[in-house]
Amino acid sequence: LIIMKYDANQLKITEVQKSKIEEINFDNLVFGEIFTDHMFTCDYEDGTWKNPEIKPYGSIELDPSTKVFHYGQAVFEGMKAYKDDKDQIWLFRPQQNFERINKSGARLAMPEFPKEYFFKGLEELLKLDKEWIKKGFGNSLYIRPFVIATEECVSASPSTKYKFMIICSPAQAYYSGEVRVQFSEKYSRAANGGVGAAKAAGNYAAQFYPTNLAQEAGFQQIIWTDANTHEFLEEAGTMNIFFRIGDKLVTAPTSDRILDGVTRKSVIDLAKDMNIEVEIRRVKVAEIVDAARSGELKEIFGSGTATVINPIVGFGYKNEKFELPKLEDSYGKAFKDTLMKIQYNQAEDKYGWRYQV
Ligand code: COI
Repeated sequence: LIIMKYDANQLKITEVQKSKIEEINFDNLVFGEIFTDHMFTCDYEDGTWKNPEIKPYGSIELDPSTKVFHYGQAVFEGMKAYKDDKDQIWLFRPQQNFERINKSGARLAMPEFPKEYFFKGLEELLKLDKEWIKKGFGNSLYIRPFVIATEECVSASPSTKYKFMIICSPAQAYYSGEVRVQFSEKYSRAANGGVGAAKAAGNYAAQFYPTNLAQEAGFQQIIWTDANTHEFLEEAGTMNIFFRIGDKLVTAPTSDRILDGVTRKSVIDLAKDMNIEVEIRRVKVAEIVDAARSGELKEIFGSGTATVINPIVGFGYKNEKFELPKLEDSYGKAFKDTLMKIQYNQAEDKYGWRYQV
């Protein structure tokens, strides 16, 4: 067994000549369209990660035979950086994202990325691009670490070469309007034994076609149901999902089909502090439809890094549509406020979730 030594001091940094930040209108950002001045890259070759580097953001050249184009061997993460009133920069539970990208990678037969490079690369990148992180609730820098298979070969086997990168995009809201969801009757996002729990690129591409159909029917997103029976509600693909029935919160357990969301687990912890009962159990479509009919269903909201906490204002199932009441005492709103106060360094951080850059 060879234990690799990864020295974070190997990081090479080349700064841009001129920042493009002056050209950006930060008042009206569309999610994921604008990128900062720099990016982090690192290559895997000959059984080791090498050349950790921060350089000006820009295109990379890849041969047409590169494996990621053919077999989708790619995983990613979503994180955010926040700036407080004193210009200090904070990440939220970054260790969780670091662990998850390696868990996702392991499922796709990819090599583990070293912690030394992940944190050093991320922190130096944020320090360099700190002007891109705007203050104020709702402003953040969305961070996208990802890994792609870069071997130039079309045989269907794991790549021997990879590229790990981090790019950053100034962000405001993910969804610009109200979100209504359709409960899936036919299509599936993930199956037992599959890659649903991994943040694999293909999990997202596979949702586009059914989501287009749902959009044509007036919904922004789909809540995926279990592939076996389509009787149980699982996740929304860009968010984990919570249902409030009466005063109780219900959410599906994570599994090999459901992503173990960082915001999801934070909401579950915060609920305990707020004396809100949470049941982590399978949620039947029929239960939610019945609860909507009887008025017991008070709220549905999604949780995710990009979306934070996103209210779901209505849902559709088969040929029926349901609208949810507008609540004064919304749990979703309470979680969002509490979570954001922690993220923006405005509240006590009793769990040690904040990480200063
Ligand atoms: C995130 O919330 O960070 C995600 O990765 C979801 C993505 C589809 C925007």
